Amino acid sequence: MKATVIANKDYTISKIDDRVYGAFLEHLGRAIYEGIYEPDHPSADENGMRGDVMKLVKDLDIPVVRYPGGNFVSAYNWEDGIGPREERPTRLDLAWHTSESNAVGIHEFADWCASVGTEMMLAVNLGSRGVDEARNFLEYVNHPGGSYWSDLRIKNGRKEPWNVKLWCLGNEMDGPWQVGHKDADEYGKLAANTARAMRMFDKSLELIVCGSSHSDMPSFPDWERIVLEHTYDHVDYISLHMYFANRDDNTPNYLGLSHKLDRYIETVASTIRQVKHKKRSKKDIYISFDEWNVWYHSNKKDREILDGNSGWPHAPGLLEDIYNFEDVLMVGLILNTFIRRSDVVKIACIAQLVNVIAPIMTEKGGPAWAQTIYYPYYFASVFGRGSALQLVTSSPGYETTHAADTSYVDVSGVHNEDEGMLTFFLVNRHPSEAIETEVSLQGFAGGSVTDHQVMTHPDLKAVNTAGKQDEVKPRKGDGARIADGKLSVSLPPYSYQMVRVQIG
Ligand code: AHR
Repeated sequence: MKATVIANKDYTISKIDDRVYGAFLEHLGRAIYEGIYEPDHPSADENGMRGDVMKLVKDLDIPVVRYPGGNFVSAYNWEDGIGPREERPTRLDLAWHTSESNAVGIHEFADWCASVGTEMMLAVNLGSRGVDEARNFLEYVNHPGGSYWSDLRIKNGRKEPWNVKLWCLGNEMDGPWQVGHKDADEYGKLAANTARAMRMFDKSLELIVCGSSHSDMPSFPDWERIVLEHTYDHVDYISLHMYFANRDDNTPNYLGLSHKLDRYIETVASTIRQVKHKKRSKKDIYISFDEWNVWYHSNKKDREILDGNSGWPHAPGLLEDIYNFEDVLMVGLILNTFIRRSDVVKIACIAQLVNVIAPIMTEKGGPAWAQTIYYPYYFASVFGRGSALQLVTSSPGYETTHAADTSYVDVSGVHNEDEGMLTFFLVNRHPSEAIETEVSLQGFAGGSVTDHQVMTHPDLKAVNTAGKQDEVKPRKGDGARIADGKLSVSLPPYSYQMVRVQIG
């Protein structure tokens, strides 16, 4: 089987915003406690943060991390997480039916972000609270000093403001599961008022309003239209969330879900355009895809705690999906979609980062390791920086419930002019056939393959565990060649690859 791709230097989609490789950490399960924070762990630093986790996170070169939720934020009092630890209250977390000790709050999270070299993206509580908490939190985080909240921050040990630019106006407010859930009009008005107040403090903030929790919500896409009608002039991004699942164990269909993702993005992009024209506005709004990942492996196991049959445990194992090899392909396809839609998707956060539906897993007192999906996320984040190429791909395909024609070969291409590099991320969805793929490099001088990484596995359900951390991992490829301005590479059945080409 054969596929062809044309990559032309003059045809680009957009500069990829680095923040499309962001991540998310919520006070949920063992994401914070035993995830990033475990003071008794042998690798813990002076702040109690796990060094082994920090190493895995640093390697990912994550530009931004969203915090503290998620559903958690909709009943969170950020003030509970400041001041002396021993005085911080334990609260019930209604979203996940657990207890929250507040041992980690904004100071600890900010220090952790500085240690791993990432920026904070903070969410305010528009569920149980509103404008007042948002303005106070903002003042605490970003004001240099000389006011009640900024002076309290200084008293609590942080002199300089953190100057956080990215702020989420609540979380999934369309969802009836959300504490303080609202209809689109109620939320739109509250978000607009909150945004106005936050901008009175600082016009340069980048504000994200909640879109739908997923594209199967009955209110989608009217929610987006109504919310944007209220907020268009006051915000910069609208957030989308989507989780992917292979519940009926139908891999070809599962891997077709990236079509559904693409349609979701396109529908929201056209809703943004509709509201823009209705308002006769010159301003553009972009998409913050601030929760995405595979999530379904742990659903059954979690019911006990989520149904409230286990009391109110602190940091129990929740949403601990153990990812397999086919999830590598799905994550590769999701990231390819974001690269191809970099014209509208400017921020995206893998949900989440540690232990909770995460590329990194830990054991209490034990090791931290990379799940299977760590690798496609790593390759995209580290090497997918630059401009997205408008590729023309011809590949045989198959039918799924998501699209009549799902091409076997899915590819995205990134041109990094500063480094003189082309990077291609390729997924073969074919279950049994290798596909000989030829990429015409038009307008690019010379070219030599400098890196080639391949992920295949005979067992789609293979996983990495504490005892077998390297069961699924990339290996160096050696079959990618360049001749006569064409890159040829063979894609084994069910495979993920990255090929990097140095150009003149
Ligand atoms: O990431 C897990 C949860 O998924 C988040 O708390 C919520 O926003 C979404 O429903």
